[in-house]
Amino acid sequence: MAPSSIDSTAPTRRQLSLHYHELATAALLTPAERLVWDAARAATDHSYAPYSHFHVGAALLLEDGSLVQGTNQENAAYPSGLCAERTALFGLGGGRPGPMPRIVGMSVAGRPASGDFTPALPCGACRQVMLEYEMRQGQPIWLLLPSLSGTVLRFERLADLLPFHFSPGDLPPRL
Ligand code: THU
Repeated sequence: MAPSSIDSTAPTRRQLSLHYHELATAALLTPAERLVWDAARAATDHSYAPYSHFHVGAALLLEDGSLVQGTNQENAAYPSGLCAERTALFGLGGGRPGPMPRIVGMSVAGRPASGDFTPALPCGACRQVMLEYEMRQGQPIWLLLPSLSGTVLRFERLADLLPFHFSPGDLPPRL
């Protein structure tokens, strides 16, 4: 094809870019971030994971400065269990009267039953739930995650973890 001609039927190649920070160690976190990071790690002590032996903790920092923790809760009927991120979020969403306080930031940690912390990145289902909490409050939630190489990944907003997501707007209008 001649360089000057434009093929209007050709697919347009697009590219997504994702912004996050990578910190060499948790010692570089701000005091508020460090609080959430440590709370997620501490929560792993309360995980119920007799089948996977992988203890996951999640922590949420609320706008009033309080923390909410969650852990993975497994079950002999395997799919009946739930991830740490969702026990934390659903506990907040369904666990108190009155308007839900805004979430400022969150973190996730994971480790084998006996052993040191390992990478723990939220599964797809958790990302979907996390995103809807962010959308509901109309304010971004930062996220700290332990990476494969032992560094800390800091995301500015949960939406960055799930491009092309399903959202309330995809549902048909109510009759
Ligand atoms: N798990 C979480 O708690 N969060 C995730 O995002 C991924 C996986 C839990 C579920 C299960 O109890 C264990 O880790 C092994 O998959």
